[in-house]
Amino acid sequence: MENNTKQTDKKITIAIDGYSSSGKSTMARELARRVGYIYVDSGAMYRAVTLYALRHGFVGHGKALDREALVASLPDIHIGFAAGSGTDGVQHTLLNGEDIESQIRDLEVSSYVSPVAEVAEVRRALVRLQQEMGLDKGIVMDGRDIGTAVFPDAEMKVFVNASAAERAGRRLRELEAKGEKVSYDEVLHNIEERDRIDTTRKVSPLRKADDAYVLDNSNLTREEQMKWLIDLFDRITGIS
Ligand code: DC
Repeated sequence: MENNTKQTDKKITIAIDGYSSSGKSTMARELARRVGYIYVDSGAMYRAVTLYALRHGFVGHGKALDREALVASLPDIHIGFAAGSGTDGVQHTLLNGEDIESQIRDLEVSSYVSPVAEVAEVRRALVRLQQEMGLDKGIVMDGRDIGTAVFPDAEMKVFVNASAAERAGRRLRELEAKGEKVSYDEVLHNIEERDRIDTTRKVSPLRKADDAYVLDNSNLTREEQMKWLIDLFDRITGIS
């Protein structure tokens, strides 16, 4: 079996932030695999809390989020990850032990996740959990505030961007592949709305950390993006 895992004694922390559907999760997961690090999708954690809120009727169908009820329930929400059963090693998100990986990716959760991610207490609880996961370094985490709030001292920070139209096209293809019937306009609207909320919210808005490297992947192939990331990783860890 081919072993393309990069070996280095010095483990670092890698923070990858960016807009929704910028392809950062796919990139971050692949980078973690190639350098032999743990991968954590922080967006999945906000999505898991959103699914809990939907199931308990704290939000949904035009109803404003019941912040108080959600905050009171936080001690009952336990989020974890389990290695996937497939050979690709894709990890699955767990909510109180239940595998909810596919449910947190649908458009309903996507539509309600931004207001949930705006709740300061939710962010505090999840950031604490994320920081615990990164204590031993050797981690790639992607999200919106990883380089700014979760791991401000991360040795490698990347901010990923692509135009909203490009991202909507990618997201539409993903949803169609899963058999969801949605229009391009609906997806574009969802992305623009999430961009607006993510960048303007009071707590930890999405912004590039001052020391982050910017990767605009609008016109890059997946392999070109990976080369860019691995070159940066090698430079930072002093491999080459
Ligand atoms: O990356 P994603 O689309 O799965 O993230 C889902 C939502 O969670 C996104 O709208 C913003 C929020 N989020 C956040 O506020 N902070 C993070 N670190 C990750 C995600």
